Amino acid sequence: MDKPLIFITRKLPEKLIEPLKEIAEVDMWHSEDKSVPYSILVEKAERATGLLTVLSDQIDENLFQQAPHLKVVANLAVGFDNIDVEAATKRKIVICNTPDVLSDTTADLAFGLLMATARRLIEAAQYVKANQWNSWSPYLLAGRDIHHKTIGIVGMGKIGETLAKRTTGFDMNILYHNRSRNIQAEEVLHATYCEFEELLRKADFVVCLTPLTDETKHLFNERAFQAMKETAIFINVSRGGVVDEEALLKALNAGEIAGAGLDVFAEEPVNADHPLVQHPHVVSFPHIGSASIETRTKMITLCVENILDILHNKEPKAVVNGEVLIKE
Ligand code: GLV
Repeated sequence: MDKPLIFITRKLPEKLIEPLKEIAEVDMWHSEDKSVPYSILVEKAERATGLLTVLSDQIDENLFQQAPHLKVVANLAVGFDNIDVEAATKRKIVICNTPDVLSDTTADLAFGLLMATARRLIEAAQYVKANQWNSWSPYLLAGRDIHHKTIGIVGMGKIGETLAKRTTGFDMNILYHNRSRNIQAEEVLHATYCEFEELLRKADFVVCLTPLTDETKHLFNERAFQAMKETAIFINVSRGGVVDEEALLKALNAGEIAGAGLDVFAEEPVNADHPLVQHPHVVSFPHIGSASIETRTKMITLCVENILDILHNKEPKAVVNGEVLIKE
């Protein structure tokens, strides 16, 4: 019998995908940093039983229509807004992601971005490199304190909770907003639940960690930025689509908020001439939330395990659309 075909949309370390090769034919895109064009992805999916995808791959109804053997899509990310999950569910295709293994690393990055933005760390490093440091002066590159301030976390899932844990060492007051209450965060970390508007009004740092869905698209709009303190710093480590970028730019230019730290953009990769990237009060990163060597290795391993579980008719560790697995 022919082995099932698994198509991997980026070049990944051979060693990590070896377990797949024992029971499947593996076809891997040749580039680590260039996306597979959509038309080739669809072509590859036509014969595939499984796909190992990255967050910039568009996995939609059209692709599913042309992939009659497809059983599983394992996305190398916790987010899955690049995948039409409803269309997959209709066709009983299992969608898997990589939760939990990246929570600590992403929370570290979120807090690092917050510090970099508030304390102007990137500017300071560039200042020294550019030989601009001629004398000491009292307010040279003076930023804003982080300790004893109020952080407002929008989206208190696993990463939100992990970020909240980090802020306790800085004696921060923690507010959060979430679809449902997070009792663990309230009881263990003393986080206080707030309505969205109240959080925006009270927080010194507003951190966006909510996934991109139809409900959260442009959640951070003109009204949201106007509600924030003029000294507030906005941090986004979720998805660019949660933010109305024009409204953010307007708020920064009008001094309605003090700064922003952005790891994600509506269109990625973002161009260097994007006005938010060039803004003096914005720190931008190229979507590196979970980018540590250890965590990326764990994420790839989890994707491989998720696919192997499907090939062995077992329940995968991380399933987005569990209803597909319920036996009739
Ligand atoms: C990264 O953005 C992820 O969703 O894992």
